[in-house]
Amino acid sequence: MHSSLNQMAGDAADRHPLPDATVADALDAPEPVGWAPERALAGGIYGFNSIDPRSRSFNLVRGRLLELKRARNMRLIGVVSATPNVGKSFVSANISASLSRDPQIRTFAVDLDLRRGSLSSQFGIVPDNGLNDYLANGGRFETYLLDGEALTIIPTRGGMVHSAELLASARARGMFQAMRRSNPDNVFICDLPPVFANDDAVATMAYLDAYVVVSEEGLTTEKEIKDSVETLGRQKLAGIILNKFKGGLVSDGYGVDSYYAVGYGEERRK
Ligand SMILES: Nc1ncnc2c1ncn2[C@@H]1O[C@H](COP(=O)(O)OP(=O)(O)OP(=O)(O)O)[C@@H](O)[C@H]1O
Ligand SMILES: [Mg+2]
Repeated sequence: MHSSLNQMAGDAADRHPLPDATVADALDAPEPVGWAPERALAGGIYGFNSIDPRSRSFNLVRGRLLELKRARNMRLIGVVSATPNVGKSFVSANISASLSRDPQIRTFAVDLDLRRGSLSSQFGIVPDNGLNDYLANGGRFETYLLDGEALTIIPTRGGMVHSAELLASARARGMFQAMRRSNPDNVFICDLPPVFANDDAVATMAYLDAYVVVSEEGLTTEKEIKDSVETLGRQKLAGIILNKFKGGLVSDGYGVDSYYAVGYGEERRK
């Protein structure tokens, strides 16, 4: 009897998830963490520095995302790819850095690649209770504000977690609800696993407003992009980012909304 009542209460909470107060508080009061511009450069994060020519392509993406926010209140943005290792996390970190320079918004980089999260290492953060731990067991929801920057990182620790279950949980729903109800200036850039690696990107998309697909020049095929967009739904597609782009203008060939080209880092061009 007891358990069926609890079950019913659980079902009701699932249908109408309450914004998670722990998450809401943590978004409003991130913990400061050490950071220096040299670390950005060493880690291939150019988006903080508008003078660096390598930040240009990320600024272009920033412009498009700000436009989507202004016109359609889209502020939970996923970063995906069809296959691994094309530069999603590199692009997520750089777009987040670029957005963080806009004083009108508050930018959060969220590591939703629960098994292979890399934002913590990119930003040199050692989380006690990463996003994966939080979704599995509750506890503290950790948000880290980089010293000297207006960027907050929500890191995960990675590992072989049951990510599909964690993302389908009532706690995940409460977390996304808290993000959605948070300060309207907040923008969340969510680094996701590849679309075809597991169900996580598809499961997460239900909570997000839009996504960008990162592709790698010479590696990602047209079919992979089409299949990703078909799988995630065309309505939420914000654009395709062509990473490791080596030159020329990108034409409108895949029948998708728009393209952005992200060039090689200088050190990789040599
Ligand atoms: N345009 C670029 N210029 C320089 N380095 C890059 C660029 N794109 C990616 N890299 C580097 O390539 C490596 C792989 O990129 P990244 O980790 O961002 O890929 P990913 O798509 O997130 O991979 P995964 O599928 O494993 O999550 C990283 O070391 C990253 O710094
Ligand atoms: Mg990654």
